[in-house]
Amino acid sequence: MSRLQAEHLYKVFGRRPDDAVRKLEAGADRDELRAEGTTAAVIDASFTVEPGQIFVVMGLSGSGKSTLLRMLNGLLEPTAGRVLFDGDDITHLSPKKLREVRSKKISMVFQHFALFPHRSVVENAAYGLEVQGVAKEERLKRATEALELCGLKGWEKSWPDELSGGMQQRVGLARALATDADLLLMDESFSALDPLIRRDMQDQLLELQKTLKKTIVFITHDLNEAMRLGDQIAVMRDGRIVQTGTGEDILIRPANDYVRRFVEDVDRSRVLTAGSIMEKVAADAAFDEEDASSVSTETPVAELFAALAEGTTEIPVTDDDGDLVGVVAREKVLSALADEAQIEAQLEAGIEAAAVLGGMKDTVPAPRTTEKAVKSDA
Ligand SMILES: Nc1ncnc2c1ncn2[C@@H]1O[C@H](COP(=O)(O)OP(=O)(O)O)[C@@H](O)[C@H]1O
Ligand SMILES: [Mg+2]
Repeated sequence: MSRLQAEHLYKVFGRRPDDAVRKLEAGADRDELRAEGTTAAVIDASFTVEPGQIFVVMGLSGSGKSTLLRMLNGLLEPTAGRVLFDGDDITHLSPKKLREVRSKKISMVFQHFALFPHRSVVENAAYGLEVQGVAKEERLKRATEALELCGLKGWEKSWPDELSGGMQQRVGLARALATDADLLLMDESFSALDPLIRRDMQDQLLELQKTLKKTIVFITHDLNEAMRLGDQIAVMRDGRIVQTGTGEDILIRPANDYVRRFVEDVDRSRVLTAGSIMEKVAADAAFDEEDASSVSTETPVAELFAALAEGTTEIPVTDDDGDLVGVVAREKVLSALADEAQIEAQLEAGIEAAAVLGGMKDTVPAPRTTEKAVKSDA
């Protein structure tokens, strides 16, 4: 069973929302409704989130992300459609049952995490448990563990204003983790942080996720963040989900021009993996297990350049058990990147691509910086 399922969710703000839904179902768009003074914040959103997944909702400001998230935990009632959480329709729970689900099973982490200034860090992290009525000793113990998971061991007794912004955000994450909720809803949780700290937090979340295996819906307007974190990514535009897929799906097969333009700037060589661009081989294909040039299906394309520079024409790709599952041909590598600017960036990063490009003249125009790159490598 999926952990979370959204079925044809709509949220319309303004007068006569049901009429508006009918118009939207008949094909009206946001602008037509706006002319009538209603806002279609979310239009016909459907998706499923599996246990242990990080499901990212990505879109520009105003595209409807926060409204969607608030319907997932019952803070906002959908105008139409329903939300199933572990198979229960949370849009039809009694207020009492809904409160219970919200306090025990779902945790929210917001962009600006408001800590109580006159409570210590550990008391702040224990707040969600306090709301649940967990006894003091137990909640401080669990909050202390959660703080340690979030890299804040030793800060338990400090006051919030002694912490940097990044550390305060970690307290927010610890508060969510301390409650043992299975479902974390994170609304732009890292968006207010400096880029380096933000990356740290992303790493921390991915690291935690390896052991905790929470189900996470993560909202962001940042494509690179979406690509780093998301097992599945839903791209929202003007209230509608225009594409759902893995980061690779979205890069390789954008559903429309909007998504294509959105993903133009992403560093493909870091998102695409050997597995996504390989040619599959028959299960019993011959393979020398000692072949040192082999890579795993998860190896980023960026890391294939070195092997190609040494003259390898086909890189063997192996699965977790070390069995050959495919090969990546050298032409495939650059055509997958398919963006001269990206290739230039690779060259400037000092990767010895001269040899690769030597064999690539037929398929890809030689980037302008070849000469410079070769010189700087020398
Ligand atoms: N309570 C509300 N009343 C009226 N309009 C709202 C309300 N909440 C959000 N909206 C509108 O719905 C649209 C989507 O908002 P939101 O979900 O906050 O987008 P995002 O989180 O992607 O920035 C926006 O046009 C916003 O102005
Ligand atoms: Mg928002």
